[in-house]
Amino acid sequence: MVRETHLRPEDMVLPLFVTEGVGVKEEISSMPGCFRYSIENLLIKAEEALEVGIRGIALFPKIKEEKKDSLASYSWDEENFYLKAITELKEKLPKLILFTDVAMDPYSSDGHDGIVKEGVILNDETLEVLGKMALAQAKAGADFISPSDMMDGRVGYLRSILDENNFKDVGIMAYSAKYASSFYGPFRDALESAPKAGDKKTYQMDPANRVEAVREVRLDLEEGADMVMIKPALSYLDIISDVKKESTVPVCAYFVSGEYAMIMAAGEKGWLNAEEALYEATLSVKRAGADVIFTYGAIELAKRNLS
Ligand code: PBG
Repeated sequence: MVRETHLRPEDMVLPLFVTEGVGVKEEISSMPGCFRYSIENLLIKAEEALEVGIRGIALFPKIKEEKKDSLASYSWDEENFYLKAITELKEKLPKLILFTDVAMDPYSSDGHDGIVKEGVILNDETLEVLGKMALAQAKAGADFISPSDMMDGRVGYLRSILDENNFKDVGIMAYSAKYASSFYGPFRDALESAPKAGDKKTYQMDPANRVEAVREVRLDLEEGADMVMIKPALSYLDIISDVKKESTVPVCAYFVSGEYAMIMAAGEKGWLNAEEALYEATLSVKRAGADVIFTYGAIELAKRNLS
């Protein structure tokens, strides 16, 4: 009766990894319980999410090394299996809300979210690539384009590209305050997308900064973001709380791979009860102010709610 915070299935979005091929279901070693799926297995998992009350999934592609290049050109290739997966998901599961990822890193031979020239990220040139990628995803059936790249000005640029091409109903969920975090390690294993040289500190945020997150959110709101995100979640609860006060749109938080992995690993060692710890940690993200939480534990947490 007096409980202040509730974690409901519809508060959570399940991130899923799609890969090429048929009949593929490969467990990601650093993310227990998470797999790379080929399309037909992905559909089964997405349907399972819907059945327990989850409304949305965030989809990430695992691209073969030979398809990567410095301009991420496979990302807008019509033959791209990721785009086909988007179309098939929306056809077979029309109620599913699909957040598609806009960033170069899964397709980039440099492993960066932007174009690299002599060790420098070219912000404005990258926007053109992101525009082509976003348009291809919108055409394929995405509900929310989700730029996770942290280039400056990309929300406004993507909004105008979508509008010009009559995708006015496709929303933008902006990764507004995304920190340069070591907690992304297992995700980069999952996609084999780690930077080949350098790090992401010139475009992702300094974990020491708090006020800057509010500035990033304000810019994205001015540029037309329909939802904003803070990422990671658990080490950034103060940021979530600040942003919730500032934002006029729903606030998302991403409980990232490393945050999930550390709880699961401690659970495997018998050092804590992973399911209980995951629930408590995810609840803390909700309590801090997140409206929507992207979490690899979404299905297990949703089932808990049903029981
Ligand atoms: C990259 C991207 C990353 C994640 C989502 N999109 C990693 C990175 O910035 O290197 C991380 C998600 C996670 O760790 O769960 N565009």
